[in-house]
Amino acid sequence: MRLLYLQLVLAALCSTACTSTTAKIPFYIISNGETPSLGRPGLTPVGKQRAESCIPNVFSKLNIGLIITCTEDRDGKEGLNCAAANETAVPLAKTLGINISTCATGDGADDDCPNNTLQKFNKKSNQSVLFVWDSSDMEDLIENVDTDAGLDNDQLGLHADLILTVNPKDPRNVGVTSMNCTGIDGTA
Ligand SMILES: *[C@@H]1O[C@H](CO)[C@@H](O)[C@H](O)[C@H]1NC(C)=O
Ligand SMILES: *[C@@H]1O[C@H](CO)[C@@H](O)[C@H](O)[C@H]1NC(C)=O
Ligand SMILES: *[C@@H]1O[C@H](CO)[C@@H](O)[C@H](O)[C@H]1NC(C)=O
Ligand SMILES: *[C@@H]1O[C@H](CO)[C@@H](O)[C@H](O)[C@H]1NC(C)=O
Ligand SMILES: *[C@@H]1O[C@H](CO)[C@@H](O)[C@H](O)[C@H]1NC(C)=O
Repeated sequence: MRLLYLQLVLAALCSTACTSTTAKIPFYIISNGETPSLGRPGLTPVGKQRAESCIPNVFSKLNIGLIITCTEDRDGKEGLNCAAANETAVPLAKTLGINISTCATGDGADDDCPNNTLQKFNKKSNQSVLFVWDSSDMEDLIENVDTDAGLDNDQLGLHADLILTVNPKDPRNVGVTSMNCTGIDGTA
């Protein structure tokens, strides 16, 4: 009886103390920069500007250690913007000298990959993870990392200037801010 009690106390202590080092680290979610209409490839001039100057400027202040972006699944589902997400992420990765990890999206993708990659990195680092994700697949990502921004795909996909900040202690209470890159923010 006494042993059981001790185990329970230890378990309770551990659930606060043992997670507190990683739980303090927020992670961030943005979508690909602005793209041309009708699924044409690449970023628009505004999207390029966001990728090359706005994002490196904003995120070099946020202690980012890993970028996670997406790859399209083999079905090549129409409208996927993973190539644009990669193009959005590369200048920041170069600026910071960090790696880009990828997870597949779409039918048949491993839905646990974003969360697993995030958790694995947080175990060995105190730096934040930044997801740079396909704007047409934001709802799936948000579900897979167990957050709720209260925004749907349409709202998120249309606003390349939004940053979602997730505090792992309270993942359902997501902060939504702007990149504040005046002159290029807004729907492209
Ligand atoms: C991302 O873009 C870089 C630079 O163009 C390229 O070398 C890399 O292979 C791309 N990664 C993916 C996953 O598409
Ligand atoms: C990037 O990934 C490679 C291969 O996994 C690893 O050796 C290297 O240390 C990583 N670089 C950084 C900056 O994390
Ligand atoms: C994370 O931060 C804590 C407290 O500052 C430190 O003790 C620990 O070594 C850091 N871990 C890594 C992997 O940098
Ligand atoms: C993410 O991974 C952690 C640790 O492995 C797990 O406890 C949590 O339930 C996972 N979240 C989701 C949404 O799968
Ligand atoms: C953008 O500006 C708002 C209002 O001043 C501020 O709350 C927010 O933190 C800023 N975003 C960034 C990424 O600095």
